Amino acid sequence: MIEIQKTTESKIDKTNFDNLAFGQVFSDHMMECDYKDGSWQKPIIRPYGPLSLEPSARVFHYGQAVFEGMKAYKDKDDRIWLFRPEQNFERINKSSARMAIPEFPKEYFFEALEELLKLDKDWIKKGFGNSLYLRPFVIATESGVSASAAKEYKFMIICSPAQAYYSGEVRVKFSEKYSRAADGGVGFAKAAGNYGAQFYPTNLAKEEGFQQIIWTDANSHEYLEEAGTMNIFFRIGNKLVTAPTNDRILDGVTRKSVLKLAEENNIEVEVRRVSVQEIVEAARKGELKEMFGSGTATVINPIAGFGYKEQKFELPNMDDSYASFFKDTLMKIQYNETEDLYNWTYEV
Ligand code: COI
Repeated sequence: MIEIQKTTESKIDKTNFDNLAFGQVFSDHMMECDYKDGSWQKPIIRPYGPLSLEPSARVFHYGQAVFEGMKAYKDKDDRIWLFRPEQNFERINKSSARMAIPEFPKEYFFEALEELLKLDKDWIKKGFGNSLYLRPFVIATESGVSASAAKEYKFMIICSPAQAYYSGEVRVKFSEKYSRAADGGVGFAKAAGNYGAQFYPTNLAKEEGFQQIIWTDANSHEYLEEAGTMNIFFRIGNKLVTAPTNDRILDGVTRKSVLKLAEENNIEVEVRRVSVQEIVEAARKGELKEMFGSGTATVINPIAGFGYKEQKFELPNMDDSYASFFKDTLMKIQYNETEDLYNWTYEV
């Protein structure tokens, strides 16, 4: 059983749920579980608040940290749902294994989520687009700056009420120089540094008027891999194309759900390498009908245009938009508004 320390002072009345910037406000409680003496200790749920760590804690020096992104949804009858949480559980442990972090026990993960969500249920607002974003993460807390895996860690879950990730249209820049990861690296993992490494190239892209960068492969920069915050899909004619997952690309839960929905709805899909040249050519010929990103935070995010070197391309507005179809279909499942044919939802 998880120990629970309830807050005496909720922040909920001070929170404006109609105007939420992504990831800025956190709910009243958080989960914390320490790893020491070779095992995970008893998890505790306590009021959200600062941590006290040694300045020499490994996480500050070597970035030994991994995280996940999940969402909790509330349906019309106030029932609370998670979407494919087993996938996030498995992935955080895969990420941890790659970063030499001990795996977290499944029963702690699910019990913590359930208790936390029951306690902070009022932070989950109803309605399409509203959710409670859940951020499980693990950090190396052991003090000492020797460059080796820590022996002490903290697994935490914090929760942030969320609406849209991007507030406006999204245009992306194809990277000519920067990559997310190389073969044999940690690209497949949700390692903290994978995301920190994107800030500088993304800032450069922002200076040119783009919101995001699309990583190209580290060897040739000829193939499109994923965006900073999402996996990426292209619609060429009526065909849906996306890069295969590998060492470098995150195995996105939303990505694999889109692929399943495409298959079930007779949308032709190709999972293969996608070259920059192919997409530029398709855009020139008017064959590139859509681009969109998929991710937990962004759900399905249409991309209005892209840039490559000095060239800029705008994408058409499609009446039969695949992005809208996938977003709508996924959200209906996530908010329990339609039958869940694939056993993806998990009631809290
Ligand atoms: C998510 O979609 O949950 C992610 O983890 C992406 C994040 C960097 C915002």
